[in-house]
Amino acid sequence: MCGIVGYIGDKNAYPIIINGLKRLEYRGYDSAGIAILDDTVKTYKCKGKVADLEKFVADKDISGNIGMGHTRWATHGEPNDENAHPQVSQNGYFTVIHNGIIENYSRLKKRLKDRGYKFVSETDTEVLANLIEYIYLKGKVTAEIAVRLALTKVIGAYGLVISCKDEKDKLIAARKGSPLVIGVGKGEYFLASDATPIVEYTNSVIYLNDDDVAILKKDELILKTVHNDRLTPKVQKVDLEIGEIDKNGFDHFMLKEIFEQPRAINDTFRGRISADNTLVHLGGLFNVIPQLLAAKRIIIIGCGTSWHAGLVGEYLFEDLARIPVEVEYASEFRYRNPIIHKEDVIIAISQSGETADTLAAIKLAKNAGATVLGICNVVGSSIPRYTDAGVYTHAGPEIGVASTKAFTAQVTVLTMMALVLAEKKNTISDKERKRLIKELVNIPKTIDKILKNSEEYKKIAELYKDSENFLYLGRGYFFPVALEGALKLKEISYIHAEGYPAAEMKHGPIALIDKNMPVVVIATKDGSYEKIVSNIQEVKARNGKVIALVTEGDTIIKNLADHVIEVPQNDAALAPLATVIPLQLLSYYIAVMRGCNVDQPRNLAKSVTVE
Ligand code: AGP
Ligand code: GLU
Repeated sequence: MCGIVGYIGDKNAYPIIINGLKRLEYRGYDSAGIAILDDTVKTYKCKGKVADLEKFVADKDISGNIGMGHTRWATHGEPNDENAHPQVSQNGYFTVIHNGIIENYSRLKKRLKDRGYKFVSETDTEVLANLIEYIYLKGKVTAEIAVRLALTKVIGAYGLVISCKDEKDKLIAARKGSPLVIGVGKGEYFLASDATPIVEYTNSVIYLNDDDVAILKKDELILKTVHNDRLTPKVQKVDLEIGEIDKNGFDHFMLKEIFEQPRAINDTFRGRISADNTLVHLGGLFNVIPQLLAAKRIIIIGCGTSWHAGLVGEYLFEDLARIPVEVEYASEFRYRNPIIHKEDVIIAISQSGETADTLAAIKLAKNAGATVLGICNVVGSSIPRYTDAGVYTHAGPEIGVASTKAFTAQVTVLTMMALVLAEKKNTISDKERKRLIKELVNIPKTIDKILKNSEEYKKIAELYKDSENFLYLGRGYFFPVALEGALKLKEISYIHAEGYPAAEMKHGPIALIDKNMPVVVIATKDGSYEKIVSNIQEVKARNGKVIALVTEGDTIIKNLADHVIEVPQNDAALAPLATVIPLQLLSYYIAVMRGCNVDQPRNLAKSVTVE
């Protein structure tokens, strides 16, 4: 995915665009570019980050009140100057910035080459720019018509901002599969991939839908479909405060978001648990409770960390509500020709609400007639618009590419869902349910306590920051936590790490154990405590280094492990919310000590809106 920003109005476009790109850089940072329109269209772009672009344009003419900017996450063509956006059509008529993939770009490129077009980049986006220009010149039509006609020939996903050198008083925006938001100001309009670059100017926004085309002048907005049907723009208020998207004194967004988790969890269950902590009420599911209760199975789909949250969900739903659950990687589910029954309930989990594989899996499930629910963190994103119902996590904007507070907020929602279903199906006693609700309400305090010990994680991080491999082990509810801990370490420190069910060690991975292998074991007191103690002994017998997460006051493992991190006692069903915190911090400190770019790890993007 990438970051897109546009502006049209009376202000200087450059600072609005460049600051907006900085807020979106978490979405992709292979290259950056900007186009400013005044009596000409001035395009500047380069490989690297937005800061590199700022240096590049320091001595350039960037004056103008209309413009667009792009931070790229490459899909077609390596990150370099030529493949950076904006992409300009061969004869300079059209300037295009694009988020997404033109899947039929090869065929279109060949047809354009046959008609004399030459290409300077490897991108699919340049093909679109030349296609628009070809139609514009051949058909002698307006820029808007050329754009709409070109888009009818495109297969794939796009969020686009386009300018035409013959019509420099307007910007044309279009969306299909990649998010695009219009900010509505007084005599000015803003465009962006999400609301974060817009909220400091206006909180009135219009979320474009698939096949929407918007023609923006500084005092006029025309909204149509790609097929020229006129639409009435739906202006909504976005309640994002600018402070929510700043680091607020933390070194990295990721650290800020780790420390925000008590608030994020609290905000996620606020208003959804009765004042006497005896009942959970999820209004967003009110209309689909019958389907959930009648479901022969629940299929949870997601990617990455959201998939890990889904795995916790499987344990919760089966343990508490006795409903069969399958958890699927969205990218596998969408292509393996799965069997989906109308009675199935699909739960799609996504922080961004824009992950292409998850969106595609949702569409597959809806086509099969299943009920599809969403658990998302971004209001107005695509997934909530495609699902039958859902529950928003209220974690606030998650800027760090490595997901932290979204994960615990997702698990909070899944916990509440399991408790609602357990109550309706009477699969646990009132007493048990009230105890779990009370414990959930106390989780933010538990996490606050864990966060206070963050210094001890630095000491462990210092000892193991140069390791080449890590193993993470957990049983039951802690197996998904082990997977999540391993992913956190991998994606921000670039150390290879694997999560495993602890009992699986003896079926192969134990061959990896030697004195150079740090093994993180989630070993808090629960039903399989004795078993996990044996697993630790197996690792120690082979000289592995054990970093054990234990329940406060544990004396047994303290005498076995090399390092012990204590966490307060929690019911196993709620313990993932607490035990993931030390793993997030351990990964964070190791990555910082290794000099890694924690908020924007190499090769990654915050939301993968391409396949
Ligand atoms: C998590 O730290 C990763 N950044 C990544 O695995 C992420 O969880 C995945 O891409 C899914 O994103 P989503 O939740 O926005 O759909
Ligand atoms: N597919 C386009 C390219 O590779 C856009 C990628 C993006 O979304 O940043 O340039």
